[in-house]
Amino acid sequence: MRGQDGSVRDFSIDAAPGITVLEALIHVYRNEDATLGFRYSCTVGRCYSCLMRMNGETVVSCRETLVDGAMLEPMLNRAAIRDLATEDPLLKPSRER
Ligand code: FES
Repeated sequence: MRGQDGSVRDFSIDAAPGITVLEALIHVYRNEDATLGFRYSCTVGRCYSCLMRMNGETVVSCRETLVDGAMLEPMLNRAAIRDLATEDPLLKPSRER
């Protein structure tokens, strides 16, 4: 994961096939690093508060399957909050991690 400040943090998880990017982030948050910042709300692909980039492509992290060796980065066109969390001008603050 590359944060807003350009720093890179590596996380390794023993994930089941088909795990979503958001599920992996929640796993890391709960088991490895409770300081990890990311954002989500609906978890079903409707609110887009979980948008981020994986390997350079914009993904809806609650719907996107995690790939091996993925580089996760925050959206470039949104104001930084922390790590992968960015402000969404269309949403009121929801769950921020
Ligand atoms: S959490 Fe709402 S679209 Fe992903």
